[in-house]
Amino acid sequence: MAMMKRVAESAVRAFALGSTSGALTKHLHASAGSKKIVGVFYKANEYAAMNPNFVGCVEGALGIRDWLESQGHQYIVTDDKEGPDCELEKHIPDLHVLISTPFHPAYVTAERIKKAKNLQLLLTAGIGSDHIDLKAAAAAGLTVAEVTGSNVVSVAEDELMRILILVRNFLPGHHQVISGEWNVAGIAYRAYDLEGKTVGTVGAGRIGRLLLQRLKPFNCNLLYHDRIKMDPELENQIGAKFEEDVDVMLPKCDIIVINMPLTEKTKGMFNKERIAKLKKGVLIVNNARGAIMDTQAVADACSSGHIAGYSGDVWYPQPAPKDHPWRYMPNQAMTPHISGTTIDAQLRYAAGVKDMLDRYFKGEDFPAQHYIVKEGQLASQYQ
Ligand SMILES: NC(=O)c1ccc[n+]([C@@H]2O[C@H](COP(=O)([O-])OP(=O)(O)OC[C@H]3O[C@@H](n4cnc5c(N)ncnc54)[C@H](O)[C@@H]3O)[C@@H](O)[C@H]2O)c1
Repeated sequence: MAMMKRVAESAVRAFALGSTSGALTKHLHASAGSKKIVGVFYKANEYAAMNPNFVGCVEGALGIRDWLESQGHQYIVTDDKEGPDCELEKHIPDLHVLISTPFHPAYVTAERIKKAKNLQLLLTAGIGSDHIDLKAAAAAGLTVAEVTGSNVVSVAEDELMRILILVRNFLPGHHQVISGEWNVAGIAYRAYDLEGKTVGTVGAGRIGRLLLQRLKPFNCNLLYHDRIKMDPELENQIGAKFEEDVDVMLPKCDIIVINMPLTEKTKGMFNKERIAKLKKGVLIVNNARGAIMDTQAVADACSSGHIAGYSGDVWYPQPAPKDHPWRYMPNQAMTPHISGTTIDAQLRYAAGVKDMLDRYFKGEDFPAQHYIVKEGQLASQYQ
């Protein structure tokens, strides 16, 4: 364990150092004095003490408590984020910095932003800041930043796993083993090889590209749609074909993977009409955001068999309520939001948050790719 910790610590250092490149200009100034910083994370309870590197939970608090408190800052950490009487709500009026995470999202609404008179900085420990009303944050002059790149490998690996789980019809076999059954036919009648299948990613940014690279040795037919076409050399190296029109690409796909952020343009993009145009028997992996899908349209298409398998870790809202339709639909291999919070990812996004706080205290700029809202402007893909 000690050795694992040392390896992980050096990975964190390498990541943090990598993210310090870039020009340092001064924009976001933390006025002198003690800051009130609030972190909202998932609670680990009995699991908290099981791994010294488990920093992404309330108990681990990103491993920055001693560092913050030694500088005179106040650091409050909670998982209690919903409703008018929750712990988060109590601190909204006087906090300076809110650290939140997509895994247990603190929904930062326009109403909360209005109440947060001292708020300057919203940091996302991870990637994807759609739980924040970004327009309201921009209008209020707040800075929103995330740890871009911190968990992209974690998510791409997880997507590859989900693709294989669906293609091979793995879960019914696993359930048989637990329930004492043995029925090869019940699995084999729709278990396939991945080789030769057409896989399309909607969004080919950091995660989408890593997934395509990982899929290349499987000898699939790889397609991608994005706002931006890759440069030809990279496209050639990855071996994926660009599809300018998403509605031309989607019906060609045996497997569709979603790899773009939740924005006003992508919200509800997979509605009943679009799903109806997909191949019958299509498999969908979505680790991007739940709200890119029309929840009921996905549940209906899984029930009818039009979608033969749906897997992902993202839901709306989160935590998913007990009656969320995706818990009960057939042909699903869903999990809680987990892919981007491996221990390796936690160490990287904790280091990234610490680095940005340090820069904030010193009045230095963050690495450019981390900004989601800066000086009233939303990052281009959120506009
Ligand atoms: N499940 C998890 O644990 C987890 C972890 C990390 C990220 N994510 C999600 O994955 C998303 C992608 O992450 P990333 O690191 O690859 O981000 P990225 O910014 O590197 O890539 C996103 C890509 O989507 C494209 N895009 C944006 N809007 C589009 C649109 N309307 N049409 C077509 N393409 C569009 C962009 O051009 C970009 O290439 C995040 O925004 C987040 O929501 C989930």
